[in-house]
Order: sequence, then C-alpha cells, then structure tokens
Amino acid sequence: MGVRLTVLRESAPLERRVAMVPEVAERLSKAGFTLLVERGAGERAGYPDADYERAGAKLCTGPMELFDTSIVVGIGPPSPESVRSMRAGTVTISLLFPGRRIELVRSMQEARLRVFALELLPRISRSQSMDVLSSQASLAGYEAAILGAELSPRLFPMLTTAAGTIRPSTVLILGAGVAGLMAIATARRLGAVVEGYDVRRAAGEQVRSLGAKFLELSLNAEGTGGYARELTPEEKVQESQMVGDAVARADVVITTANVPGRKAPMLVGRDVVARMKPGSVLIDLAAESGGNCELTRPGETVVVGGVSIVGPIDLPSRVAFHASLMFAKNVQAFLSLLVDPAGRLVETYTDEILTASLVLKDGDVVHAPTRELLGAPR
Ligand code: NAI
Repeated sequence: MGVRLTVLRESAPLERRVAMVPEVAERLSKAGFTLLVERGAGERAGYPDADYERAGAKLCTGPMELFDTSIVVGIGPPSPESVRSMRAGTVTISLLFPGRRIELVRSMQEARLRVFALELLPRISRSQSMDVLSSQASLAGYEAAILGAELSPRLFPMLTTAAGTIRPSTVLILGAGVAGLMAIATARRLGAVVEGYDVRRAAGEQVRSLGAKFLELSLNAEGTGGYARELTPEEKVQESQMVGDAVARADVVITTANVPGRKAPMLVGRDVVARMKPGSVLIDLAAESGGNCELTRPGETVVVGGVSIVGPIDLPSRVAFHASLMFAKNVQAFLSLLVDPAGRLVETYTDEILTASLVLKDGDVVHAPTRELLGAPR
C-alpha cells in the first residue's frame, strides 16, 4: 500500500498554489506512495484534477477520505476544520509561521499531530533542494521586477527609434538575498540599469556578477548563518543617507530586506518617498514582515505625490504554476528524509533537518520559540 499522502486544496483567499503537482505526484506514486488529492486542489495553479488521476493519485472530497492518511502536505497549514478531522500522529508538512497563527498551532497540539514547518529548515547545503523559502522568494523577486515594469509609466530598456532615443529606467533593489538577486537578474533582462544594495558585503560580488552596480557602504553587517545582523545607530545613519539618495534617483525601487525573526528594517522613510520622482514605483517585498518603506500597507497600493508604494503579499502565487512545481519538488526532497527506502514512515527523527523543522510531536511542543508563545510547560 505504501505511505498515504494527502494534498489539500489551499484555503487562504489569495492562494493559487498547490503543494503537489502531477509530475511530482507521479514520481511519488512510482516510489510507492498512495496519493490522495482533494478535488480542485491544483485548479488555480493550472493543474486539472484529470492530470493528478493520470499521475496515479486518487481524487477525494470530504474529510473521511482525505484524512485516512499518514501525511498531509500544503503550502500553508491545514484549516482549523481539517485539523479537527485529522487523527493523532498524522504528519503535516507546510509553511506554518507559528507566531502568526498561534490558535491553530494550539489546536494542532491538541489533535496530537506531528507538525513540520518548512520555513524552519536549517539553511545548510544538504537542505537546499527542500528550501521552499528560497524557491518561493526567487519567484517573488521575478514577479516584483515584472510588476515594477508594468506599473511604471517608463520603459525599462533603452530604445533608439525614429522618434528619438529613450533612456533606460534605473531600477534599485534593496536587499540582495534570494529574492533581490532574482529581481536584479529580471530587471537586467528587461534592459534596465540596475543598482543593488545589501548590508552583507558578500552580496556585492553576486550583484556585480548579474551586471548591476553595488552600492558600497564602508561596513560589513554579515551575522551568523549567512544572514544579516542588526546595524548600530551610527551605521544606520550612513546607510539611510546613501540609500535615500539612490531611492530618489531610481524609477523603480524593489525592497526585499529582512532580518530573520525580526521586523523588517525600515529603509525608505516618508521623507525619502517625498524626494522620489512622480510616476516612480516602490515595490515592498517585506510588506508582510513590517515593510521596508514607512508608507507600505500589506496587500495595498498607496499613492503619495505621484509615487506608488505597492505592498504585494501574493507574488509567488501569481506564478502559481511554476511556484507549485518548485514547492512540490522541495516537498519531494523533504519526504526522502521522512520515509525510509523500504517505504516506511520514519518514527524517530534524528536528522538535523527534521529536528529543526519539527514544531509539534504527538502533543509535545518541540520548537522552543513556539513553546514560549504557547506558554506551555517544559
Ligand atoms: P532574507 O529574506 O532574510 O533577507 C533578504 C536580504 O535582506 C538579505 O540578503 C539580507 O542581508 C538583506 N538585508 C537585511 N537587512 C538589510 C538592510 N538594512 N539593508 C539592506 N539589506 C538588508 O534572506 P534570504 O534571501 O532568504 O537569504 C539570505 C542569505 O542566505 C543569502 O546570502 C543566501 O544566499 C543565503 N542562503 C543560503 C542557503 C543555503 O545555504 N542553504 C539557502 C538560502 C539562502
């Protein structure tokens, strides 16, 4: 029979992605999994039910069918109703962000589920194939550049025409991590002149290798694990002056700066927005974690003095077909740790990738920050 794996239709309103696509489902079926797919799960991403059936999956409706299973996968966590229908010991694999939905986590604990949060994967080379934060961030970066080109009243490329020569747009990318680098590459491909900035000096090399200019500040704020550390107050002043000047001269600004576990750094204040050219566009990819611009409102567009400040929260979902394909491949790689070569579910988690991403196990809160949030005894 093999391990039973359920793919849920996402319940979040703007969510078009699906955590498993037919191509990957077929490989899992061949590897011995029994796949149960909620009807319509892939519809909004461009994967019809029939393709899952052809891939060997069984289409299901209703909790009785769906939750007669060992593993449940999703982009986001299962809905509270789904959690109520799951039996104890069921493994769930999805993005979770426990701090944003602590009540749901509590109900998952009460249901004695084994809950893995994919955003908690350690960023080691062995986990790269499972890293949904990276796969989805790179697509968000791509979409941000496309959105910037669409919303800007200016062309990105230089154009020499009978009606004269048009200068290329200047696109500034703040934060050159996974999303930022993809935004840089995409804006370059569209012909813009691109500038990039990151507090990690190591990012400079990558920015330049994509044909963009790297804004230099004479400090290095690389912290542990390849992420950024917080800047000192003096460093913040230097940074904001340089960044402010670059923002003021750009036609399109894409901000992607984040510091894990903290509110996103505020890089563009309203005073800087006031210096931007009318018609320019700022796309804030950090909208959900507090925003890199003071005027950002998540999920909205704010227009101030002719400048559009856009706070999209569904960018990977806008390229749902490929975002789902990449997510599914990440899930497939993660499953290789959870199911042994004989096709049995692993019961004891020793691999550091599993122990780092495990939040709940059979009623215990394994992830310390979540335990703190829940106020549970040790
Ligand atoms: P992230 O989403 O947490 O942050 C995005 C970027 O914002 C980072 O590059 C960060 O340095 C930058 N940033 C933070 N504060 C800033 C400020 N005040 N001004 C300007 N920029 C600021 O990070 P992301 O993109 O998820 O990855 C960060 C790093 O981790 C990258 O170097 C990436 O290559 C590395 N990484 C390593 C992986 C692995 O080894 N498995 C997997 C994924 C990423």
